[in-house]
Amino acid sequence: EKLQAIVSPLLTWYDENRRVLPWREEVSAYRTWVSEIMLQQTRVAAVLPYFQRFMARYPTVQDLARGDEEELLKLWEGLGYYSRARNLQKAARIVAEDYAGAFPADYKELIALPGIGDYTAGAILSIAFGLPVPAVDGNVLRIASRITGWDRDVQSTKKEITRWMTEVVPSDRPGAFNQALMDLGSALCLPAAPRCPDCPLRGLCTAEREGSQARIPVRAPK
Ligand code: ADE
Repeated sequence: EKLQAIVSPLLTWYDENRRVLPWREEVSAYRTWVSEIMLQQTRVAAVLPYFQRFMARYPTVQDLARGDEEELLKLWEGLGYYSRARNLQKAARIVAEDYAGAFPADYKELIALPGIGDYTAGAILSIAFGLPVPAVDGNVLRIASRITGWDRDVQSTKKEITRWMTEVVPSDRPGAFNQALMDLGSALCLPAAPRCPDCPLRGLCTAEREGSQARIPVRAPK
């Protein structure tokens, strides 16, 4: 119920502060998928030129499916984690062949595709298909645990936090809500030195109130 209260201020903040990004200006399952895969281990600023080049070279999932692997890896050069590119093409071939080029709007079918896990499936379903499901990454775990003052190891309780978020995602704007959390996590609710005075969720946040931001989220000892 603590988390429920964040929806409205977060969406208002997002409408006023959201970053203008190419995958937000023109939305499709294909563009959401490619951008989320690129963003998994790479910052937004670094992804931007790669995303634009990728879409120019492979405007549709069929183009990617038909593409030459060596050329794709060349285009990927500098982004790193090349298995991401190989999985993209494997998945593109399945979507082109088994789904006639149309991404399935179904969690189980999405996570069966190479390289698509929980988070990416949630991002595609909410952003591209408008379905009310969460997309829980490190940002969301950090924000949710700070708001609620959750001081148990976040990784071990990811399932629990995902369950909370499932109940909170607003069905009228699930994609905006999830992307607002991504922006909040990269602009204000930073891992170290969060900018609490600028946060739209100030006053709703247990960690801010208790001064425990530095201690939360709790990471399991390695
Ligand atoms: N990081 C991961 N996904 C993102 C998105 N859709 N927009 C901005 N940053 C992100």
